[in-house]
Amino acid sequence: MRLLLFFSSVLVINVLLNLLNNLVTTAVGCFPSLRIIGGRTSEPGKWPWIIALDIENNGKKVFCGGSLVTESWVLTAAHCVKGIPYQPYARVGAFNTSDNDEIQRIKVQRIIIHENYTGNRQNGNDLALLELSEPANVSHSFIEPILLANAKERTDIQCYIVGWGRFNLEERLYSDVLLERKIDLLNNTECQRRWNDSLFRPRVNQSNICVDDENGSVSSCDGDSGSPLHCWNGGSWRLYGVASWGSRACYHYPAVYSRISWFANWVYGTLIKYSE
Ligand SMILES: *[C@@H]1O[C@H](CO)[C@@H](O)[C@H](O)[C@H]1NC(C)=O
Ligand SMILES: *[C@@H]1O[C@H](CO)[C@@H](O)[C@H](O)[C@H]1NC(C)=O
Ligand SMILES: *[C@@H]1O[C@H](CO)[C@@H](O)[C@H](O)[C@H]1NC(C)=O
Ligand SMILES: *[C@@H]1O[C@H](CO)[C@@H](O)[C@H](O)[C@H]1NC(C)=O
Ligand SMILES: *[C@@H]1O[C@H](CO)[C@@H](O)[C@H](O)[C@H]1NC(C)=O
Ligand SMILES: *[C@@H]1O[C@H](CO)[C@@H](O)[C@H](O)[C@H]1NC(C)=O
Ligand SMILES: *[C@@H]1O[C@H](CO)[C@@H](O)[C@H](O)[C@H]1NC(C)=O
Repeated sequence: MRLLLFFSSVLVINVLLNLLNNLVTTAVGCFPSLRIIGGRTSEPGKWPWIIALDIENNGKKVFCGGSLVTESWVLTAAHCVKGIPYQPYARVGAFNTSDNDEIQRIKVQRIIIHENYTGNRQNGNDLALLELSEPANVSHSFIEPILLANAKERTDIQCYIVGWGRFNLEERLYSDVLLERKIDLLNNTECQRRWNDSLFRPRVNQSNICVDDENGSVSSCDGDSGSPLHCWNGGSWRLYGVASWGSRACYHYPAVYSRISWFANWVYGTLIKYSE
C-alpha cells in the first residue's frame, strides 16, 4: 500500500503499475484506476457535462474524466491532477476520443486541489477544480454543466456511471467511445462491509459514496477516475460522485467515489473565491 503513495506523475505511472499489477491482485489506488466493466456504448451528447482530460506532451492520451460544473470549471479527482507536470486539456462534447470528435478542446489554466487532499485517496478529499482558459460553448446541445447533489440525496433513484474506460495497464482495454452503466448506490456501512473482506481492508471515508451493480458482483471498478456518478433526482440530473478508487482487479469490490453532497460547499466556495 505504501508504494501507492508515490504515484503522482502521470508519466512514470505505467511502469509502476505494470510492476504492481504483477505483484498484487487486489490493491487499491491504481492510476488511472477505474474503468467501465460491463458498460454499454453511450451516445454522442447524451451526458453533456462529461469531459475527457488529456495532455499534449503525452500524445494527447486521455487520462481521466471530469464534469463541467459551470461553463468555465470542471470538477475531477485530485489524484488525476496532483503533481502532473503539464497543464491538461479538457475535451468538451466528446464521444469517440480516437476520432477527436470533441466540440472543443480547451486548455486548463488553473488547478485547485482540495486543501485537505493528502495524496492518499483513502483519506478522502479526492477532488480538484480545473478552470478552463475559455468558457465551454454551452449554446451547443452537446455541452451543459451539471447541478451538484445537495444534502437531500435520494437513494431510490436512477444512477449512472460513465467514462472512457481508460486503463493504462493494457492498451487493448481502452475504450475509444464513452461507456455508460446503470448502477445502484450502496450505503457506506454496506460498502465498508464488502471492503472488509479484502486483503487491505481500506477505510471507506464518510465523504465517499459507493456504487455497485444490481447483483453486487462485478461493477466494482466502473468508470474512469475523475468521471461522474450522476443520478436523476426529481427533474434534473445531479452529480453525486467523482470516481476516486476501486479494486485493482476491477472486480468484486464496490467502486468508491467522492460524495459530492459532502463537498458542495467547498465547490461553491472555491468557485466564488476564484471568480472575479
Ligand atoms: C472511433 O473512432 C475511430 C477512429 O476514427 C474508429 O476507428 C472507430 O471505429 C470509432 N468507434 C466508434 C464506435 O465509432
Ligand atoms: C481542512 O482541514 C482543516 C483541519 O481539520 C479544517 O479546519 C478545514 O475546514 C478543512 N478544509 C476544508 C476545505 O474542508
Ligand atoms: C475521512 O478522512 C478525513 C481526512 O483524512 C479524516 O479526517 C476523517 O477522520 C476520515 N473519516 C473517516 C470516517 O474515516
Ligand atoms: C456555439 O454553439 C452554437 C450551437 O452549435 C454555434 O452556433 C456557435 O457558433 C458556437 N459558438 C462558438 C463560439 O463556437
Ligand atoms: C445499508 O444497506 C444494507 C444492504 O442494502 C441494508 O441492509 C442496511 O439496512 C442499510 N443500512 C442503512 C443504515 O441504511
Ligand atoms: C470493518 O473493519 C473494521 C476494522 O476491522 C471494523 O472496525 C468495522 O466495524 C468493520 N465494518 C463493517 C461495516 O463491517
Ligand atoms: C443480474 O443477474 C440477472 C439474473 O442472473 C441478470 O439477468 C442480469 O443481467 C444481471 N445484471 C447485471 C447488471 O449483470
